[in-house]
Amino acid sequence: MRTIAWREENGGFIQLLDQRRLPESATQLDVTSNEELINAIQNLAVRGAPALGVAGALGVALIAHRAESESWSKDDIERAISQLREARPTAVNLAWGVDLAKGQFTNGPAAVLKLALKLAEDDAKSCREMGRIGADYLIEKLGKKKLRILTHCNTGALATTEWGTALGVVRELHSRKLIEEVFADETRPLLQGSRLTAWELAQAGIPYRILPDGAAASALFSGLIDAVLIGADRIARNGDSANKIGSLSVAVAASQVAVPFLVVAPESTVDRNIESGEHIEIEFRSDSEVTTFAGVNIAPAGSETYNPAFDVTPARYITAVVTDKKVYRVKDGEAL
Ligand code: MRU
Repeated sequence: MRTIAWREENGGFIQLLDQRRLPESATQLDVTSNEELINAIQNLAVRGAPALGVAGALGVALIAHRAESESWSKDDIERAISQLREARPTAVNLAWGVDLAKGQFTNGPAAVLKLALKLAEDDAKSCREMGRIGADYLIEKLGKKKLRILTHCNTGALATTEWGTALGVVRELHSRKLIEEVFADETRPLLQGSRLTAWELAQAGIPYRILPDGAAASALFSGLIDAVLIGADRIARNGDSANKIGSLSVAVAASQVAVPFLVVAPESTVDRNIESGEHIEIEFRSDSEVTTFAGVNIAPAGSETYNPAFDVTPARYITAVVTDKKVYRVKDGEAL
């Protein structure tokens, strides 16, 4: 089952693997309108920066198809595209995918769709490339031995079109028989680690353990981890990287015990318009994500929360950024 696909029936629609329902059930969600797609993005039915890039481009294809069959005005089209572009602010890939697809709009729906499908294909290729580059780099740095990898959030096939970024490196190492074990942070509050990463690792037959986010520093200080691999939602020119909330704590802990901390992301996640991480907009999410669990209250009624979806790890804590093009040694001052 693909994370995201285009279906030709009924004038064309987007089919998603609904990530809200994993690991309980692998259910498809048919998205037939821009409103449904925005809802799916905001509720994390589809999520992860590279997958959002493809979803954004396919969303513009959906808009192009509907606009043609329902004779939308120019204003309606502009409004729909900008609402989609702004559905989530932190991952630069969403705006990137929307903008590239929008560039094909005057050539008609088929041209927009062709571009979106090409981005999906390119994403799959770039993940394989990152996997190879990241695995080679780790072997060069740590020697050819079985590795114990800590990861945070979900950076696998579910966060891309297939294979994954940081988890793509893990898959590549596993195919070379160089994975001892993966430590998957559960990733509060939405549990992308325990629900999604563990699901992918189990399917791939890669040994793993889930740990509460609060145990990551302890695992690092106990000498259980050889390297940390995470993804990114937006990377500034100096290497500062936004990723799922909790990534910063892991990075600081890793740097204290000199464990390599790698950010693995495609070039499309690099925002060369911004010099440093202070320019990255962080999405804040609802109180209920923190105060309830599976629909049950786990905090006193009316509790306020602090619930940023992402944090920014300064480049000084990042050993290297691995993209589909090369390894940037950002801790040593190499810019992207
Ligand atoms: O809120 P999410 O689940 O979309 O957050 C996703 C992440 O933070 C991922 O680590 C990031 O997008 C990289 S995915 C390859």
